[in-house]
Amino acid sequence: MVSRALDNALKGVGRAASLTQRLLAFARRQPLHSQAANLNDRLLDMHDMLQRALGELVQLEIRAAEDVWCVEIDVSQLEASVLNLAVNARDAMPHGGRLVIEVDNSHLDHDYAALFPDAAPGEYVMLRVRDNGHGMDATTLARVFEPFFTTKQVGRGTGLGLSMWKVAAPASP
Ligand SMILES: Nc1ncnc2c1ncn2[C@@H]1O[C@H](COP(=O)(O)OP(=O)(O)O)[C@@H](O)[C@H]1O
Ligand SMILES: [Mg+2]
Repeated sequence: MVSRALDNALKGVGRAASLTQRLLAFARRQPLHSQAANLNDRLLDMHDMLQRALGELVQLEIRAAEDVWCVEIDVSQLEASVLNLAVNARDAMPHGGRLVIEVDNSHLDHDYAALFPDAAPGEYVMLRVRDNGHGMDATTLARVFEPFFTTKQVGRGTGLGLSMWKVAAPASP
């Protein structure tokens, strides 16, 4: 009896997980509402909101580049992604630390692009996010883009942050 109930519960969990996987795949295929944007401006606009999310223990620095190229990007997706990266950094620095967000022009050559299946050579704007928290071991690093993968306690992490974005937006210099 108990084993049948458990069996049903497990099947339900399996169905929910596969439905969510399909929803995530669907969400990733949704057309982006791309618009021309300047990443310096977009990030500097987010400064106060990010600092509030980070709390007083984390020092935030946004390093804007000079003459940064314009990019075609879905601004609300960008904001959601950066907010998740900031919250991840905060969670990795429970006793405080430093979060640096950098914007710069960048050229991906053929050799470099060949190292990554999703990358095409060309002109890009780089967004680099660094914190000095506890970091990740190799096992965690290998799984961070997996939906629902989280090392956080129930109620703190969903594992649906990094799994939502893997695609780089090309720049229009
Ligand atoms: N800045 C970071 N420092 C250390 N670990 C990180 C960082 N960002 C992500 N991670 C790891 O990747 C996992 C997945 O992150 P994410 O997809 O945003 O989900 P969540 O934040 O809900 O756990 C985190 O649980 C954590 O183990
Ligand atoms: Mg997260």
